[in-house]
Amino acid sequence: MSKAIDQALQQEVDKRRTFAIISHPDAGKTTLTEKLLLFGGAIRLAGTVKARKASKHATSDWMEIEKQRGISVTSSVMQFDYMGHRINILDTPGHQDFSEDTYRTLTAADSAVMLIDVAKGVEAQTIKLFQVCAKRGIPIFTFINKLDREGRNPFELMEELEQVLGIRSVPMNWPIGSGRDLCGVYDRAKNQVELFQGNDHSTIQVKKVDDYHDPVIREMAGEYFHEQLCQDLELLDVAGDPFDMDKVLKGELTPVFFGSAINNFGVQTFLENFLQLAPKPQPRSSTAGLIEPSNEKFSGYIFKIQANMNPAHRDRIAFMRIVSGKFQRGMSVKHVRAGKDIKLSQPQQFLAQDRDIVEEAYPGDIIGLFDPGIFRIGDSLSQGSEVVFDELPTFSPEIFAKVTVKNALKHKQYQKGIDQLTEEGTIQVFQTVSFDDTILGVVGQLQFEVFEYRMKGEYGVDVQLQRMPYQFARWIVGDDIDPSKFRINSTLVKDKKGNYVVLFENEYAMRTAMEKNPDAKFLDTAP
Ligand code: G4P
Repeated sequence: MSKAIDQALQQEVDKRRTFAIISHPDAGKTTLTEKLLLFGGAIRLAGTVKARKASKHATSDWMEIEKQRGISVTSSVMQFDYMGHRINILDTPGHQDFSEDTYRTLTAADSAVMLIDVAKGVEAQTIKLFQVCAKRGIPIFTFINKLDREGRNPFELMEELEQVLGIRSVPMNWPIGSGRDLCGVYDRAKNQVELFQGNDHSTIQVKKVDDYHDPVIREMAGEYFHEQLCQDLELLDVAGDPFDMDKVLKGELTPVFFGSAINNFGVQTFLENFLQLAPKPQPRSSTAGLIEPSNEKFSGYIFKIQANMNPAHRDRIAFMRIVSGKFQRGMSVKHVRAGKDIKLSQPQQFLAQDRDIVEEAYPGDIIGLFDPGIFRIGDSLSQGSEVVFDELPTFSPEIFAKVTVKNALKHKQYQKGIDQLTEEGTIQVFQTVSFDDTILGVVGQLQFEVFEYRMKGEYGVDVQLQRMPYQFARWIVGDDIDPSKFRINSTLVKDKKGNYVVLFENEYAMRTAMEKNPDAKFLDTAP
């Protein structure tokens, strides 16, 4: 490939940022996403993210919605341009859409934005999503939201990030006043104050100062708030962590931004800093070593498959993250697992709810491939050499149910359905060691609903799900695994590859089992 094309590819890579927003429901993810899209000039999208969320629904309604809409875009990718960058936001659905897909989507991100409600601090779903990101060691940027409301002390929140998530933090800006008395923020890097104006906080005044002691701040914010600001920042300067890019990139230090998404306060500063600090598309590990984005041979992998819930159209969309090279519509690539060449003729890219046919795309981009049933999660596609990317991790399920077929005559279809839906990653399946019962494990309740619905719609099988009391699954590695040891508030099962897994009813049972089996390893993902 010529040098000119190499350079063009490198430029495309350099300008891309692909990230996910991780948060607990109601922290303001929808609001923040919408503001970011608006900055990107995607004005016509105003309200669409919200509208999509407004279809917060009972699961039965959800099925109807999916049916009408055809292929679901409930969890997709939003792309926009801002200041010379091309930004891909991976949607990580919360609420009742929370599922293993949410975790898998994080494997396609190069960094994450962690959104925290200033009053609530670090919440349950944030912890789970954070841990998946932390395992990959990707950089995490924190936005503390709803600063316009009464909230917790910023130092206390920093402490919580460290205590609960184990990550140190470095505030990039700092609130001046708080809650109803919030005047604005002080930008530590730029040495500027950004102050709310007017009763409704509708405009923002930005003023450059020498440093935070500058008397101009006193004039603008009043003596009380200026004094408070000076005290806080002096403490941070002395006792806080300095900004260290290496640590940020390793996910050991999170830059923290304070703001209010709904008032669009601090959002632009956040976005601009983020674009500067966040990594461009990163290489991925494979059988052929690390594959760099600038490698001119196209490669990518499938991280998610979305089934069409309309039985009349059984096509699916496979979501591919491009790792290297240039993608062109109609190109032929090797589907490595299937051992054949396929033509990628109907690729789609996602712009909020619109799906556009994509002509070309680059590393960091996500495209949707029409899937007549040929893809599995983790499949590698490549041009030229046969590159196989590392397997995607499995995530520890938290909800379990015993599954049986209502009509025994349908057993064959039932087995086929279970096998295929497991391969697609819709559910995880386990067999009990003692009775050979089939237990399904999921991360979100919705996965059960989808399973039941698809078993009926696609395989003609009515299934019965009986909830089991387990809450944790741990893959157990060791010699002499003895089922009799896992009877109290737990049970021993095997996953589809024959690995031993113990399901526990509670944390106490899990801790006791670990203590009683000091030689065994208990892993929260498959070995
Ligand atoms: P989510 O996607 O993370 O679940 O959160 P979403 O953006 O829907 O926000 C949850 C609620 O928090 C919404 O209020 C939203 O308006 C509000 N919110 C978001 N950012 C801010 C902020 O900076 N300050 C304040 N005070 N509120 C914020 P809601 O009443 O549930 O919905 P709506 O009636 O406003 O749509």
